Formats: sequence, structure tokens, C-alpha cells
Amino acid sequence: MTLSNGLSNPISVSEQCCEIVGNKGTMREEVTGGNGAKQRLRVCIKSFGCQMNMYDTEVAEGILAHEGYEIVNGGGRVREDDERADVVLMNTCSVREHAEDRVYGRLGMLGKAKKKNPELILGLMGCMVEEHREKLFKRFPQLDFMVGTRNIKDLPLVIDEVRKRRHQVAKIRHDGISIEYTDVIKRRGTFHAWLPIMTGCDKICTYCIVPITRGREVSMPAREVYREASRLVSEGVRWITLLGQNVNSYRGGELDGKAMLFPELLEMLCEIDGLERISFTTSHPHDATEELYRVIAQNPKISRRFHLPLQSASDRMLKRMARLHTFAEYTAKIDLMCELIPDVSVTTDIIAGFSGETEEDHEATKRALEEIRFDSAFVYKYSVRQGTPASKLPDDVPADVKEKRNNELLEVQRRITRENNVKWLGRTVGVFVEARSVKDANQLVGRMDQDKKVVFSGDPFLIGTFQKVRLVDLQHETLLGTL
Ligand code: SAH
Ligand code: SF4
Ligand code: F3S
Repeated sequence: MTLSNGLSNPISVSEQCCEIVGNKGTMREEVTGGNGAKQRLRVCIKSFGCQMNMYDTEVAEGILAHEGYEIVNGGGRVREDDERADVVLMNTCSVREHAEDRVYGRLGMLGKAKKKNPELILGLMGCMVEEHREKLFKRFPQLDFMVGTRNIKDLPLVIDEVRKRRHQVAKIRHDGISIEYTDVIKRRGTFHAWLPIMTGCDKICTYCIVPITRGREVSMPAREVYREASRLVSEGVRWITLLGQNVNSYRGGELDGKAMLFPELLEMLCEIDGLERISFTTSHPHDATEELYRVIAQNPKISRRFHLPLQSASDRMLKRMARLHTFAEYTAKIDLMCELIPDVSVTTDIIAGFSGETEEDHEATKRALEEIRFDSAFVYKYSVRQGTPASKLPDDVPADVKEKRNNELLEVQRRITRENNVKWLGRTVGVFVEARSVKDANQLVGRMDQDKKVVFSGDPFLIGTFQKVRLVDLQHETLLGTL
């Protein structure tokens, strides 16, 4: 099975900017202060994107820590971490303008910090690097380096190069797969782990930048996924979330004469002893099939949360978005899913104010929320992304109307989420105990099979186990229970 994404003629900006030469494996040490004491170089990485972006941050931290860097991320307070760091690296996201604006704002702030401390090294990784490439160097002279989503393992060499030559360095590959499995990964969770299985997207929804930033679909071979999942379990992981821009179109090659598509992969992973829960995100309705629902229904290890983005309930909008289905086809998929998987919790994404959206289209989406009664919905105001097919369409819904529609949808959904949660009160459910509550150390936090959050009193030694909890109350979107 080939890992190439089919693009020929890979371009590497590094070829234009510099040649990367390195001294892999050396300890990064720097003399600081007058007493000659040596201190490791400190690096601070911040994620601005989705779960896959967070996974990439864990990989980058692991690789840099392995090479002798100290990772500083205490408390997540941006300024304080930046001030303690020698290298500040932002793992960027391009999906909406807001995500990019946050990075631009922080680059401005860090530019000022660099005037005071010229030794500070600033870098970018993630989807904005793939989208804007070398243009970012011209716009932000304070930026020292960029690495693409397929070049995370080159980070130590790139940083070395910046320190040696003090010029801007980029390493951005176009081919291959932007998933890195490594046992030096610095995972946030003890019992839970992210596991990317495919990246890229062949769907080309007109509003979406992801096919540009992550490229065409490429899957990790099933054998590799199985090996990495088993390795995680041997480290004590009991719950894995499979990641991909469209996990349902996973194609993991052949194994023992069998084509390893997503349902087959799930079945294979369910056989791993010690792995107790498997969730996945995200799915495109087009590839959500009856076979997949049946596999989920037959395997209690697979999470009962299904995230299936609707975007809009107006067929006119769905067509303009190139979503490949009508609203009726979408609801038929949900009806079948609910019939085959009892207690499934369906969640969704909605875009408010896409190009050409009328009041009537918006009302149709509002009615759909009432009709389908999702457990939760992420609602986003449409944001034009340069280079996408929809960037050629007028962005003709005024900002205040987008805001109003966004708020109306959120209000409807908040009520429905609450009403759906109330229905769980009085039931006893299986909960995977994740951690102590941040707000109250005597309380534990866990997740139901439906991925709903439950808080209850209990001994911390229960962390990492499944427990039966009776749901007794509701506080905002959190269920409160007793063991
Ligand atoms: N692959 C996933 C979605 C990835 S992006 C899927 O198809 O379901 C996550 C969500 O961001 C999308 O579902 C969509 O609701 C939203 N989104 C993507 N591009 C957007 C844009 N240009 N403006 C506003 N929201 C957008
Ligand atoms: Fe974007 Fe559509 Fe692909 Fe999802 S399916 S990543 S929304 S192009
Ligand atoms: Fe953003 Fe890239 Fe993820 S655009 S949503 S970080 S795939």
C-alpha cells in the first residue's frame, strides 16, 4: 500500500530557503547566568486547532523533549509561558478566519517581545503553514521558522539551523502522510490517547480549507494502526479516539486477504485486550453506512457518540456546499442509526450564514434542530477561506445577520441539549473515570459511552476504571451522579 497522496513533484520550501543540515541526537544546552550553570533550552508549543492538531502538538513536544529540550506549558497561560521560553511555537489552524486571527495577534505580541529579547525564536507549524507557506515570512519578519504538517520530525534540525545561521528556515513537504506515530510522544492523558488513522479529504465541500491544508485522503495501513493501538494499550491506555478528517472513508489496505475499511478496522481494534473504549471523529454523512452502524451496535467497546455534521438543512445550501446529500437523505441516515444503535448520541456541526443563505434556509435549519434533536451542535458563522470554491461566491449574509442566526441556532440547541440530558436522570450508566475534578478535588470526572460528562464523589484510585454511576442531577451540560 502506498503512502503517497498522489501529488507529483513535491515542493519543499526548504530547498528555496536553506539546506537543512543537522547534528541529530545532541543535547540542547545553553550557558546561562554568570555562574556557568547549564540550562536546557525551553520550548513552549500552543495548539490552535482540532484534535489532530493537538495530537501533532503532543508529537512535537515528545520529539523535542527527546532531543533535550525542556517543554514549558505550565497552566496554559500564554504570556507567562512565552516569557519562560527560548522557543515559542504555534501549532496553527486555518479552518475559520478567527483561528488565523488569533495566531496573527499573538505573532504581533511576540514580535514586540523579540525586540526586547532578540534571542527568542518564533516558529509556526500546522495548517496555516500549509495554506500560506513562504508568504508568512514576508509578512512576519519576526518569524524564524515554519514546519509543515508532514515535517514534525524535522523540528530539532530546523531549530538548530535557525540558531546556527540566524535566518528564516522552512521545511514543508507536499507528499507522504501527515501522521507521525512515535513512542516519544508526550501524551496529555494517562488512560486516553488520540490515534490518527487518516488525514486529508477528498470531499471538497466548497467552504472548506482542509482539502488544501491537509491534501488528499491518505490512510495509515491497518497493520500500523493496530501496532500503535497495541503499543498504547501496553502503556496503560484504555480508551482511544481515532482521528481523521473523514474517518469513515478510511482505506487501510489489505490484511489477510481482507480489505481494511473503517468498519473492519474498528472490528480489529475491538479485539485488543485491555482496550476498553474506542471513539472516533469525524464522519461525513456520505460515508456513514448501515454496515458501520451494525459493527458499532455489535461491539460494546465502541463509543455510542456519533458526530455527523449536517451544516444546513436547506437542500439549496447543501448543494451549494457540495455536501453530496439532501436533507431527507441525511435524516434517513440518522433514523437508521438510531434504530440500529440503541442509546446512540448524535451530535453535529452547523454553518450559519453561508453564501446565499436566506431567512427561509435558516428557518429550515432551525426546524431541523427541533426535529432531529441532536445531543449537541457546534454552530459556526460562515467565514470565507481564500482558495476554496466558495471564495468565488459572494459572502452576502451581513455580519449582524450571521450573528443573529448563529445565536438563534445556539439558543434552540442549548434547550434541546438540556431536555435530552434531563431524560438520563434516574438511570444508572457505565462511566469511564478520567480524572479528579479541577473545581473540587473530592469529585471525580468521567465520560459515559455517549461521551457525556459525569461528575460524582469517589476515591481517586478509581481513575482509569469503569464504574456504575446513578445520574441524579444536571448542572449546565454536566450530569451529576452517585456511585
Ligand atoms: N471533516 C469534518 C469537518 C472538519 S471542519 C466534516 O466534514 O465533518 C469542522 C467544521 O468546521 C465543519 O463541519 C464546519 O461546520 C466548520 N467549517 C469548516 N469550514 C468552515 C468555514 N469556512 N466557515 C465556517 N465554518 C466552517
Ligand atoms: Fe472539509 Fe468537507 Fe472534507 Fe469535512 S468533508 S474536511 S468539511 S471538505
Ligand atoms: Fe484546523 Fe487543520 Fe484541524 S485547518 S481544524 S487544524 S485539520
